[in-house]
Amino acid sequence: MSGLCRGVNLAGALDAERPARPDLRDLDLVRCAGLDTVRLPVRWSPHLATAPPYRLEPSFLETVAGVCDAALARGLTVVLDVHHHGELCADPVRETPRFLALWDQLGRRFADAGPGLCLELLNEPHDPMDAATWNGLLAQALAVVRATNPMRRVLVGPARWNIVAALGELRLPDDPDLVVTVHYYSPFRFTHQRAAWIDGSEAWRGTPWGTAAERARVRADLERAAAWARERGHPLFVGEFGTIATAPMADRAAWTALVRAEAERVGAGWALWDLATDFAAYDRVAGAWHAPLRAALLGAG
Ligand code: BGC
Repeated sequence: MSGLCRGVNLAGALDAERPARPDLRDLDLVRCAGLDTVRLPVRWSPHLATAPPYRLEPSFLETVAGVCDAALARGLTVVLDVHHHGELCADPVRETPRFLALWDQLGRRFADAGPGLCLELLNEPHDPMDAATWNGLLAQALAVVRATNPMRRVLVGPARWNIVAALGELRLPDDPDLVVTVHYYSPFRFTHQRAAWIDGSEAWRGTPWGTAAERARVRADLERAAAWARERGHPLFVGEFGTIATAPMADRAAWTALVRAEAERVGAGWALWDLATDFAAYDRVAGAWHAPLRAALLGAG
């Protein structure tokens, strides 16, 4: 598999409420750090018409395509994702035509991109969309993508926010170029302590991490995910994992180092959440990586 080994999410730009073009210097930062992949979370929905034929704003599409081209030109593998498409999980029946129209347009636009571009059908499908509904929908979306991109790598993860425990409910179409993706934020009270968007998480303040049982749990979770993907003949990509900046740094670094090392041990690629927002590995103010997190991801040096 080329690329899709070690990466980072470029969050806070194209996925934001008010989208911004990511600073292309971030791509150099990522490349210079020795990473090979960027995951590009994109909130397409506000740029997609609400009536048929659900046209995607050409200028937004070209902005995203420009970032993909810039990353590919630097030799990075790109995972282009459909992020925060909340309408789909809220009302899958109503939203399906619009979601498929999005993939039709993305498929056509990126049909000629190099093999370093990978497409991810949907970030974190979740309640009230259940696994059975998602299984049906992902097969439809994949068929739309395959009409224009017969051999491109396509990432697909399970319902319930892409958690490892939901893999057993995921049904994959027969397709040799699928990559299984999961997100790993466990224990959640540690990784999301004081997350402003999670009710009650203020009470998790100071939650430590690192007991032998907690470490064993990480190993077991990643082994289980890798075994599931391997049995079906697909690579595994841990497309998000990370810790919030309000967690203690020493524990953040220890957790990040273990998840990263275990992902590599079981043969999975990974992408940290995220470069420089609320789970940041890179400190924009200092203009430097947080040294403990950089070491956790890449080893000392
Ligand atoms: C969400 C972010 C969130 C992160 C960690 C991502 O999928 O888009 O808003 O910060 O997960 O929870």
